[in-house]
Formats: sequence, C-alpha cells, structure tokens
Amino acid sequence: ENKSVPFEAIGEGMLHKLIDTFYHLVAQHPDLAPIFPNDLTETARKQKQFLTQYLGGPSLYTQEHGHPMLRARHLPFEITPTRAKAWLACMSEAMDTVGLIGPVREDFYARLNFTAQHMINTPEDVE
Ligand code: HEM
Repeated sequence: ENKSVPFEAIGEGMLHKLIDTFYHLVAQHPDLAPIFPNDLTETARKQKQFLTQYLGGPSLYTQEHGHPMLRARHLPFEITPTRAKAWLACMSEAMDTVGLIGPVREDFYARLNFTAQHMINTPEDVE
C-alpha cells in the first residue's frame, strides 16, 4: 500500500461510491442529462476504469478500451463551458456526499478541472 498513489489514498470503495453518486447527479442535471444515455450503468463502469488509472491505479480502462483519447471520445457531444461547469459541480457535490476531503480531494479536483476545460469543444450558444 502506497498512500502517495491517489488511487490508494482514496481507496476503490470510495472511488466507486463517488462515481455512482456523480452519475446520479448527472442524470438529474438539466444541462447534462440530455447528452448522456438514459442508462448510465456502462458509462459509470467505464468511468470507474478510467479514474482508477487516472489516479495511478491499475490501467483498467486501457486494458479494455485502448488509449483513452478522451478529447476525441467527447467530440460527438457538444461540451460547452456551461456543461464543463455543471460536470465539475456534480463532481464537487459527489465528493462532499462521500466525504472525500483534504489535499487528496483538492489535487484530484484540480486535475479534473484541468481535464474538463480541455474537453470543451463547443462555444456557448449565443442568442
Ligand atoms: C464519456 C460528457 C468531462 C471521462 C462521456 C460521455 C459524455 C460525456 C456525454 C458519453 C457517455 C456514454 O455514451 O456512455 C462529459 C462532459 C464533460 C466531461 C459534459 C464536461 C467537461 C470528462 C472528464 C473526464 C471524462 C473531465 C475524465 C477526467 C469520460 C470517460 C468516458 C466519458 C472515461 C467514457 C469514454 C468511453 O466511451 O470509453 N463524457 N464529459 N469526461 N467521459 Fe466525459
């Protein structure tokens, strides 16, 4: 066990609970729900694989799906600045709910914020 690996500091149990809580919030969010499938089971399963490796755990996502190419995989969806903000708000609320606190949370959230900005592929709608 090596707590300097964020995956190990957080633990698989808390990470999985975080992701399930997150998609529960995504499903209810008016800006996000329209671009996600109705059944988020498979989405959550892939995100558990992805975030495990993102946090320094085993490369579960790559083993099953190959290189993440995250930005390319998001291109079919209109990711606006508003949707990035909504995604991060759901994640922050999920972190609160599962009790993920302290420097591990701050570092994880900062990385997610950086990655979320990189996913933006569509400017805000201008009326
Ligand atoms: C898949 C939206 C940010 C990781 C998806 C899907 C949508 C989406 C609609 C497809 C779901 C499906 O068909 O199952 C968004 C939005 C974001 C965002 C609106 C706001 C910026 C992120 C971030 C990460 C991430 C920051 C990682 C840190 C993933 C992964 C998948 C995924 C791993 C599954 C890819 C696959 O199909 O293999 N996202 N996403 N997303 N997203 Fe995001």
